[in-house]
Amino acid sequence: MKSAMKVGFAVLAFAMVFSTWSLADGGADFKAKCAMCHGPDGKGDTVMGKKFGLKDLGSAEVQKMSDADLTSTITNGKDKMPAYKGKLTDAQISDLVKYVRTLKK
Ligand code: HEC
Repeated sequence: MKSAMKVGFAVLAFAMVFSTWSLADGGADFKAKCAMCHGPDGKGDTVMGKKFGLKDLGSAEVQKMSDADLTSTITNGKDKMPAYKGKLTDAQISDLVKYVRTLKK
C-alpha cells in the first residue's frame, strides 16, 4: 500500500514537471526568471524594481527599442540587469522579446 502511494506520487510529480514544460513559453519564462524584478506584468512594481528604478516594460520608452536591442539587453545584461547568455536558449530569449511586445499598452 505504502509503495503504491509512493509510485502514485512519483507519477504525479512527473506529470507536473511535464505539464509545466509543455507550457514553457515566453510568459512562463518571464514569470519564472524576470518577474522578481520586473513584476508579473512588466511594470516593475516590485521591491527590486523600485530599488533599481525600473521602467515599465510596456511603456513607449521601452517599446521603442528594437527587437535587436531587447535581445541584446536580455542576452548580455545592462547595468544591474543580469545577463541570460547561457542560462536561456536563443529561442527562449526570442520568445521573451515577443512576450515583452505583448505588454505594450
Ligand atoms: C535582478 C533584477 C532583474 C532581473 C531578474 C531581470 N531584469 Fe531586466 N532589467 C533590470 C534592470 C536594473 C534594468 C535596467 C537597465 C538599465 O537600463 O540600466 C533592466 C532592463 C531590462 C530591459 C530593457 C528596458 C530598460 O529599462 O532598459 C528589458 C527588455 C528587460 N530588462 C527584460 C528582462 C527579462 C526578459 C528578464 C528575464 C529573463 C529580466 N529582464 C530579468 C533588472 C532585472
